[in-house]
Amino acid sequence: MNASVNRQILLVEKPSGKLGPEHFKLTDGPIPELKDGEALLRVRYISLDAANRAWMHGATYRSAVEANTVMAGGGIAEVVASKSPGLAPGDIVFGDTGWQDYAAIPAKHLTKLPKLEPMTHLLSVYGIAGLTAYFGLLEIGKPKAGETVVVSAAAGSVGSIVGQIAKIKGCHAVGIAGGKDKCHWLTSELGFDAAVDYKDGAVFKALRAAAPKGIDVYFDNVGGDILEACLPQMNNYGRIACCGAISQYDGVPAEHGPRGVPGLIVVKRLIMQGFIVMDFMKERDRALADLQSWVAGGKLKVQEDVIKGLENTPKALIGLLAGENRGKRMVRV
Ligand SMILES: NC(=O)c1ccc[n+]([C@@H]2O[C@H](COP(=O)([O-])OP(=O)(O)OC[C@H]3O[C@@H](n4cnc5c(N)ncnc54)[C@H](OP(=O)(O)O)[C@@H]3O)[C@@H](O)[C@H]2O)c1
Repeated sequence: MNASVNRQILLVEKPSGKLGPEHFKLTDGPIPELKDGEALLRVRYISLDAANRAWMHGATYRSAVEANTVMAGGGIAEVVASKSPGLAPGDIVFGDTGWQDYAAIPAKHLTKLPKLEPMTHLLSVYGIAGLTAYFGLLEIGKPKAGETVVVSAAAGSVGSIVGQIAKIKGCHAVGIAGGKDKCHWLTSELGFDAAVDYKDGAVFKALRAAAPKGIDVYFDNVGGDILEACLPQMNNYGRIACCGAISQYDGVPAEHGPRGVPGLIVVKRLIMQGFIVMDFMKERDRALADLQSWVAGGKLKVQEDVIKGLENTPKALIGLLAGENRGKRMVRV
């Protein structure tokens, strides 16, 4: 990295269909001037998230990303200079750094992180992915020992942790993922009880075999057809934790949603609740203590997929949307 240049990846056009490399451009910008209350950051790792693509559709829980701006995205960064009393050079922080080498960000929008090794765990198991899995499953799904928990995008960053926490809590854990290899990995390496390959067709039938007692908790990362396959298999008083809808992010939105809503929700007395992980941040320390003890005790395996080079960030996001990743994908800048 040249210390006088700030390499940046711009979103040059919002995609109307599938996201492609043509929607991005690598450019050289200036290293930003530091204002009062801000910290100048050198970005170390950029988090690749399905949500990066959802932000291109419009405002969500954050404002939309706009064309001809630096592509937004969370990252881990080192403070190189600070005009905020709370941060000093050498501190490690998490924030919306964007896809670039350097960013100047108000300290109030940054979270100071502990210095731990490997640093990448701050983006995976101890970052948004781990916390989303923890709070979404335990606070929204409320699984009890012996119940069946099903999670979609199960080999991804959030899903792979959800299934393992379900096992820790004594549940029957079923993952839904794309491809034989990913499904085999879920059962042989991560300890899921069963896995369903949704790319193999006949998801409904395969799910019935994998969850013969019905589904008590469905952790939904994808929406669409997979949600539709799960709904009729929910047990009475089941809970659906709506975490995301990745099947609808990349391309033209589906013309209709899953059938059976709200009829099945009424008849089966289901609770279907969306959540945003930020809502639970007051409870973060408790979650981190549990996650750390499970990792240290070998009960929770951390899978990371680190791509090297800022210039590869667009390709890495496009690949994530196509299912290339296992576990948490990130870019080392
Ligand atoms: N609510 C919150 O606060 C919160 C926070 C973080 C993330 N999320 C959500 O959590 C979900 C997971 O996000 P992530 O960033 O961690 O990504 P990820 O799970 O690491 O990766 C995405 C995976 O989704 C699967 N996928 C892609 N298209 C699909 C489709 N059409 N149908 C089914 N599966 C598909 C792919 O795996 P396959 O090979 O299995 O297809 C891909 O590897 C997203 O919906 C995201 O928006 C929510």
